[in-house]
Amino acid sequence: MAYRHPSAMPAEVVAALALAPGQIVADCTLGGAGHARLLLERISPGGILIGLDRDPAAIGNARQVLAPWTTQTHLFARNFVQLPEVLAELGIARVDGILADLGLSLYQLEASGRGFSFQRDEPLDMRMDPRSGPTAADLIRDLTAQDLSRLFFEFGEERHARVIARRIVSARRRAPIVTSAQLARLVADVAGRKSGRLHPATRVFMALRIAVNRELEDLERFLELAPRLLRPGGRLCVLAFHSLEDRLVKRAFRRLERPCTCPREAPVCTCGAVPLARVLTPKPLRPTSAEVAANPLARSTRLRAIERLEEK
Ligand SMILES: C[S@@+](CC[C@H](N)C(=O)[O-])C[C@H]1O[C@@H](n2cnc3c(N)ncnc32)[C@H](O)[C@@H]1O
Repeated sequence: MAYRHPSAMPAEVVAALALAPGQIVADCTLGGAGHARLLLERISPGGILIGLDRDPAAIGNARQVLAPWTTQTHLFARNFVQLPEVLAELGIARVDGILADLGLSLYQLEASGRGFSFQRDEPLDMRMDPRSGPTAADLIRDLTAQDLSRLFFEFGEERHARVIARRIVSARRRAPIVTSAQLARLVADVAGRKSGRLHPATRVFMALRIAVNRELEDLERFLELAPRLLRPGGRLCVLAFHSLEDRLVKRAFRRLERPCTCPREAPVCTCGAVPLARVLTPKPLRPTSAEVAANPLARSTRLRAIERLEEK
């Protein structure tokens, strides 16, 4: 199957970044390169797009999709926490816009063959970057029942975390758990065939994926470094897909706007911390019902953006 991903909230992303011809933008999660195309249209003529994705398959696809703009694009199969190094390699100090559209692409879910979906029978890999790091099957094989339980609870808010973890440990003594279908069956046996609207394995699969890709750690580092790479007036836009991600984005943005660390009761600020950015979205923007009807994958998207302030 060809690389496919319907971009979430495209008009809102373009509006939030407010780019102009000749500017420099970093799309840190190229995916199907749908957002990247729209951003290139905004910065042309003369602008530069730096595109990153930790999945080399996304970069291969982006080379084709973005072929009309080859002279204006620099593409890298890297993690977005490496954005500072990438910019240094290009000799670029600051950019006008940064986009991070978190999570998985539809290609990764449906066609990568890496076991992201509980509806398929594939090797239990789940690495967005298949070049490095332990796979989901490695975690399922190696973690203790206690660590598995914590993982399912913390990253998946799974109610049956402890029972599922114990069942995994006893099942893996009999035979290794190496496919998505094996894991989905095991979870369904414990948690029941249906729990509300969600497939019973939804939360366990999400939790494993977050752990395999160290998604929350990387997001925290990215939120720390990205605002510092913007020129004054430059904008950072982040699209989150679940509450754990969105909470990190919300808190990081709030700290940039209100960095004061003085005790609440202190009459005046003495810590001297200066705001680095202003929040453009006091409440996150959500997709319209028309978009959700056309693209159900976008239903839980929350868009937040900040603008870097002038330096004092
Ligand atoms: C939702 S898709 C992006 C879709 C894209 N905006 C579009 O319009 O098609 C998310 C992409 O981010 C990539 N990704 C996730 N975490 C990443 C990270 N830490 N560094 C770089 N890429 C990452 C995934 O590999 C995936 O391709």
